[in-house]
Amino acid sequence: MKTLSLMMPLDMHLHLRDEEMLKIVAPLTSYSFSGAIVMPNLVPPVTTLEGVKEYRHRIKEAMEADDFEPYMTLFYQHYSREFLESARDHITAVKIYPSGATTNSEGGVVNFDIEPMRETLEAMSDLGIVLCVHGETMGFVMDREAEFMSVYEMLAVNFPKLKIIMEHITTREAVETLDKYENLYATITVHHLMITLDDVAGGMLRPHLFCKPIAKRPHDRDALLKIALAAHPKVMFGSDSAPHPKHKKESCGCGAGVFTAPIALQLLCEIFEENNALENLQAFVSDNAQRIYGVCPEYKEVVLVKRDFTVPQMYGEVVPMRAGEILRWSIERVD
Ligand code: DOR
Ligand code: ZN
Repeated sequence: MKTLSLMMPLDMHLHLRDEEMLKIVAPLTSYSFSGAIVMPNLVPPVTTLEGVKEYRHRIKEAMEADDFEPYMTLFYQHYSREFLESARDHITAVKIYPSGATTNSEGGVVNFDIEPMRETLEAMSDLGIVLCVHGETMGFVMDREAEFMSVYEMLAVNFPKLKIIMEHITTREAVETLDKYENLYATITVHHLMITLDDVAGGMLRPHLFCKPIAKRPHDRDALLKIALAAHPKVMFGSDSAPHPKHKKESCGCGAGVFTAPIALQLLCEIFEENNALENLQAFVSDNAQRIYGVCPEYKEVVLVKRDFTVPQMYGEVVPMRAGEILRWSIERVD
């Protein structure tokens, strides 16, 4: 039977939430990943050093594995150099959200004028703290990411030593922008490698595929696939797995988020195998991230086998992507 071994998989964009939800989802990621960049969009968002330390502690308690590192982030606001110096050993990145762009982003940035951000971003650049960006304007929903490219360019030019991650990219425009500036990098989700807007809303509405940024056109998905399958050295896997309770997804006012944590590696195997690119999956799910972020993850070997796996209908109160469907790859064991 065909097998594939992945060393130290990393999820460079993950939502773990807090309290009961954290207890459900944290073990699902720590089982098969060595580490993850943990998003700070709790309610209220993580903006203090105490908040980071306490959240990390709660994550570690909820994980059922010691061989997992949560790479912590702060929710962007103005931070002084002094504060960032004190925080630097406890965080990996700062995540910036445009206000109102997605789930729990109300405290985000209202406009991206450089000058008010200069002190914080210069200090981050000097201290080697990465900037993760949710790159969407508040324009027409299909154009939001493409319209944001000028902001990425402005950030890249003004802070040339700052590592800037274009999170969960969904468009051809983002793929093109990536190579224009040395200090731009990107994460790509597994769902954006698979679906387009048609899958979300082309037939009956499928709330469990609704996320921000919304899935785009076939040519956008193809552009993402091309760089992911080639394990382009500036891209990394980041699931953006975002658990919402079933009743909040299957309701009027469905929250944005696709829950993929427990099926991400299996789906990636399927996609990379179908495209004859399995040999590049290791770089996409770990090696590129290790190099870009300069992290040395805990040892973990995940052995996948080409055997059918039926996705559970629910994990706790969360419906995963592909619930009840059969995937072609399973996780055989984790060493
Ligand atoms: O779909 C999304 N869900 N996109 C985000 O940026 C946030 C996330 C969440 O926190 O649910
Ligand atoms: Zn996210």
